[in-house]
Amino acid sequence: MRIAGIKTHLLNHHLSAPFQSSFSTFHARTHLLVEIICEDGTIGWGECLGPADINASVVASMAKMIVGRNPLDIEPIWLDVYNQYRDQGQRGPIHTALSGIDIALWDIAGKHFGAPVYQLMGGAHRTRIAAYATGGFRAEGKDHAEHCAKEMAGYVAEGFTAVKIKIGYGVESDIATIEAVRQAIGPDVTFMIDANHGYDAIDAIEIGRRAGQYNIEWFEEPVIPEALTSYREIRKAQSIPVAGGETWHGRWAIAQALEARAVDIIQPDVCGVGGLSEARKIITLAEIHHVRLVPHVWGTAVALAAGLHFHAIIPPAPPSHEARSPRLEFDRTHNPFRQAVICKPIEHVDGMVEVPGGPGLGIEIDRRGLEEFAPK
Ligand code: NI
Ligand code: CA
Repeated sequence: MRIAGIKTHLLNHHLSAPFQSSFSTFHARTHLLVEIICEDGTIGWGECLGPADINASVVASMAKMIVGRNPLDIEPIWLDVYNQYRDQGQRGPIHTALSGIDIALWDIAGKHFGAPVYQLMGGAHRTRIAAYATGGFRAEGKDHAEHCAKEMAGYVAEGFTAVKIKIGYGVESDIATIEAVRQAIGPDVTFMIDANHGYDAIDAIEIGRRAGQYNIEWFEEPVIPEALTSYREIRKAQSIPVAGGETWHGRWAIAQALEARAVDIIQPDVCGVGGLSEARKIITLAEIHHVRLVPHVWGTAVALAAGLHFHAIIPPAPPSHEARSPRLEFDRTHNPFRQAVICKPIEHVDGMVEVPGGPGLGIEIDRRGLEEFAPK
């Protein structure tokens, strides 16, 4: 079996109601899918985290090294490509592009052997994953506390037992939002906050100290990802567990954060860290550093499927009768092509999501969805 070609599919949807994280305003949803086609007709799909146009050009550049090779040589391909780009690519688009390629190769391997990816990777510790709803971005022109509380209560009514909101819009405003959300969702729902690195260490510590009383499961990306020492200081200075990792790509970046004891919870993204091959190595790193692993997920149903296979192979840590299972990040923000790119949407039932069980990633791409959301 040989790889005949690699294509990318840019997806775009303009948002009539833009939303904001602490530093960014989303005017559109834009994601990139990778399609790898084999000479025998087998096709694999992957997805890249981050700027779709940059990822598309990096994938196109990498394709020259991959076409003609055996798609089952996933690790040799990964190493050869990474090694070629490593001098300029220890983080960022080299890893995100390679992630999409790697995921597509695993999809091909699964289809070739007629087995789900999680089976090829050693088997599932679980195939039903408890999800948490991600939302709570700031909408222009709306009172954030009120809007966010209402939105989260809606997810709880849908059956979610855990929710995550965005913060990073100013200390007083954030505390008001956190209080309003906790009141709206009640005492039993698991509740996370994510600053998208919108604070410095002083404000992050103040948020942590004041939000501690609302029983927060984790405080995600309090400060910029470069500031590993600050992460550690924030961990020490307040009581909420600190999480991060979606921008630490590759095993070396993750290892640096773990060695610095920067986080209580490490959050690699399969579509950014270097694909399923690299994500699997992060499991071992997290285990030996004894840090909880809860993956980050953001993108289309392809990213969601890849994320689910990763979730499936994360061992319970520690293995025990009441072992915790990492929660799946389930983005609830507006994105009409998230599910339109596959034939059978991956949905939650009462906050639980099944890992697709068919060969490869277990999904079938709907090309009408790709067409509909291709940039015009
Ligand atoms: Ni729309
Ligand atoms: Ca995040």
